[in-house]
Amino acid sequence: MFDSCALWAQSKNHVTLFDCAYQGFATGDLDNDVRAIRLFVSRGLELFVCQSFSKNLGLYGERTGCVSVVCASPEHAARVQSQLKIIVRAMYSNPPIHGARIAARVLNDPVLFNEWYAAVSSRSLHLVVLSSAYREVVSGSESSRS
Ligand SMILES: Cc1ncc(COP(=O)(O)O)c(C=O)c1O
Repeated sequence: MFDSCALWAQSKNHVTLFDCAYQGFATGDLDNDVRAIRLFVSRGLELFVCQSFSKNLGLYGERTGCVSVVCASPEHAARVQSQLKIIVRAMYSNPPIHGARIAARVLNDPVLFNEWYAAVSSRSLHLVVLSSAYREVVSGSESSRS
């Protein structure tokens, strides 16, 4: 499916924006959850990735995340960076730093990283079990409401 999305984006010359707000929660595997993004990059597509750590690092309200932009050339990257600086300056200038420091601490320390990854994976498994139980209840019920 991602393959045909990439082909379609390529054929239309679209720039894709990925909203990555739940990395690790879909399958419990951080790499697997971003395989679509990596596929697009491997096909040479220019794209934006908006990454939030609100959910997977429990940092709601801290405004912790980042935007990454993959460009086809250093010239494109310089133009995009210049535009982003204008937007950032007008919108928030300096982002809050507290949550970013927590994220950096966890993601850059191998012990904390493994502890966090295990928690994300087990939460993901829990969500899979819950949603399949929910599906069973809903599909088995006689309610006419969706
Ligand atoms: C799919 C999706 N993208 C983005 C966001 C925004 O994340 P943030 O809390 O970092 O603003 C959310 C928030 O719930 C979300 O569900």
